[in-house]
Amino acid sequence: MNFRAKQLAVAVISLFFLGSLLTVGYIESERLLPKKKAKAVVTNKNLSCVKCHAEKSPAIVTQWRESLHATLGVGCMDCHEAKKGEPDAWEHEESLISIIPTPKDCARCHETQAKEFAASAHASAAENVALLDTFRGEAAGGTPVAIGGCQKCHGNTVKVLKGGPLGSKTGTLDPATWPNAGVGRINPDGSKGSCAVCHARHKFATAQARQSESCGKCHIGPEHPQLEIYGESKHGLLVRAQIGEMNFGSSEWVAGKDYSAAPTCATCHMSATKSLPVTHDVGRRIARGLRPIVSKKFENWERKRKDMMSACNACHGPEYTKSFFVQSDGTLDRYNEKFAGPAEKIMEALKQEGKITPALFDEKIEWAFFDLWHHEGRSARKIAGHFKYRFLSEAEKLSPGISERFAKDR
Ligand code: HEC
Ligand code: HEC
Ligand code: HEC
Ligand code: HEC
Ligand code: HEC
Ligand code: HEC
Ligand code: HEC
Ligand code: HEC
Repeated sequence: MNFRAKQLAVAVISLFFLGSLLTVGYIESERLLPKKKAKAVVTNKNLSCVKCHAEKSPAIVTQWRESLHATLGVGCMDCHEAKKGEPDAWEHEESLISIIPTPKDCARCHETQAKEFAASAHASAAENVALLDTFRGEAAGGTPVAIGGCQKCHGNTVKVLKGGPLGSKTGTLDPATWPNAGVGRINPDGSKGSCAVCHARHKFATAQARQSESCGKCHIGPEHPQLEIYGESKHGLLVRAQIGEMNFGSSEWVAGKDYSAAPTCATCHMSATKSLPVTHDVGRRIARGLRPIVSKKFENWERKRKDMMSACNACHGPEYTKSFFVQSDGTLDRYNEKFAGPAEKIMEALKQEGKITPALFDEKIEWAFFDLWHHEGRSARKIAGHFKYRFLSEAEKLSPGISERFAKDR
């Protein structure tokens, strides 16, 4: 090799090394530096909304700018646009809009999620208490009490005013009925529910909905203490201890693949597993209702149980999971046999003997019975004492010997 050829070889090798260094440097900096944010796309029909609201309500526009929607060009009018003749159509700055984008509006682009949600108990949560809350909430303190009480979680019926504080002729919402963010709210367009109860506007980030606190806003308190129970469980404490490893912002979120620290409410009830897609029907994986007096297995309970177990099995062995359900079913069966079942029979017998009236809550024992399955029934340690000293002692007063007949083994 002559001198020239050597020089050329050295130059080529040096260039090659330099090239690889630059490539590695580029890849590493892409990996280590924070991701460049995709820019918000403001389409023509949204230009005036974005411009003016950036001044009038800047936080709303900032939240929207930071959303996935904004980067894909989904803007204000894609959700807020109304058609002439819709009950809540509002003429606003030369556009026809509605203040509430409902599940119907989201369904234009998210049909599956909207369908599953509509089929779930969540969507009917306002309907289910409509009768009850007229008699408990509204009778006790008027509509504001009902809105602040039951309807805050369950939802209400939103009504439209003609004219009003926003100064328009149509489309103004009755302040006695809105804002409301109950999960089964009945909207002016007749659709049920609100997607924003879990997906806070205007980011609509899945990262937020996956966190247990999104559910705990309603699933809390003595009648449905899921957040408290979860919070003190090993699952809850592990999520808190390793919150930085939960990868909440991942586009896919499958336990065992995208994170493995511990599950949140969404993991077990909604999120995808290795074998199941995301579901917006929170009842899909519930095999056994815990709400009735005597807890029963639902139709197709085996399939539902299998679906739930597919979430557990990402992190636990199949025998562990199966045995867990043997234990939990055993506890429920025992509670039914020993307490709920006999109590239900005693109440029925007292009614037949004419010892209690058909009207609810006019006798002391009806309160003791209610507490047995409703409050104390959710806290196993207290049940036995409550059953014996509050419920049976009351039943004996009304019909001596009745405990012997129905609750021998207590
Ligand atoms: C020139 C400014 C301006 C433009 C353009 C504008 N808005 Fe507004 N918007 C307001 C103001 C101010 C209010 C407060 C109520 C009022 O005075 O009418 C409001 C109220 C609203 C509300 C009612 C919420 C509430 O609680 O008061 C919604 C929803 C809304 N705008 C959405 C939009 C959408 C969607 C567009 C685009 C078609 C838009 N706005 C265009 C200024 C504007
Ligand atoms: C992905 C759908 C979606 C997009 C995009 C969207 N909104 Fe909304 N917006 C909603 C929902 C849902 C609500 C909640 C209404 C309710 O249930 O009370 C809402 C409520 C509002 C309200 C009234 C409630 C409040 O918090 O004051 C205003 C004002 C508003 N949006 C303005 C805008 C503006 C301006 C834009 C564009 C920058 C925009 N929205 C984009 C869905 C959307
Ligand atoms: C014009 C179409 C359109 C409308 C209307 C729309 N979206 Fe979206 N949305 C999209 C697209 C496209 C994506 C990105 C792909 C996907 O996840 O489906 C998206 C993504 C999302 C995500 C995932 C965001 C993330 O962080 O991963 C949520 C949650 C969401 N939308 C909720 C809603 C809700 C709630 C409404 C109604 C208030 C709504 N969308 C209305 C088009 C729309
Ligand atoms: C903090 C939120 C919250 C409030 C306030 C609230 N609920 Fe509930 N309610 C729930 C949740 C969550 C469930 C589901 C409980 C479960 O499955 O364990 C529920 C379940 C119910 C059920 C059972 C539905 C069924 O199909 O078995 C009834 C009935 C009910 N609530 C009535 C009421 C009434 C009446 C009020 C007002 C006095 C009220 N709730 C206030 C959150 C709430
Ligand atoms: C009970 C809470 C809850 C309600 C109500 C809810 N979502 Fe979701 N949604 C979630 C959770 C949790 C996820 C994240 C699932 C996962 O882990 O990927 C999600 C994910 C999504 C996504 C991302 C794509 C996907 O399916 O994973 C879209 C789009 C979406 N929701 C739209 C909607 C729409 C539209 C509505 C109303 C019809 C709605 N959501 C109501 C909790 C909810
Ligand atoms: C705005 C309040 C609210 C939020 C937020 C909420 N829920 Fe609920 N949830 C309810 C109410 C009310 C019910 C009872 C509905 C009924 O049967 O009338 C319920 C019922 C349920 C049920 C029983 C379903 C069935 O078919 O029996 C499950 C499971 C559930 N919710 C899980 C969740 C999860 C998981 C989240 C969060 C991702 C969540 N919920 C967020 C209010 C809420
Ligand atoms: C490790 C998985 C897991 C986690 C995490 C979890 N759950 Fe559950 N949940 C279950 C199982 C299992 C049942 C009982 C279902 C059965 O027996 O079929 C249940 C039952 C329920 C029920 C009762 C439904 C009824 O019919 O009474 C509600 C409501 C509920 N969960 C909400 C929540 C909420 C809210 C959170 C978070 C605070 C949560 N769950 C966290 C697995 C989980
Ligand atoms: C994302 C992973 C993950 C999922 C999904 C999951 N778990 Fe766990 N679970 C864990 C971890 C981690 C622990 C802590 C193990 C330890 O104690 O060392 C745990 C602990 C437990 C414990 C023991 C609690 C204690 O106090 O020792 C039980 C019981 C349990 N899980 C049941 C379930 C059931 C049932 C399901 C499905 C309905 C489930 N888990 C889903 C990760 C998970």
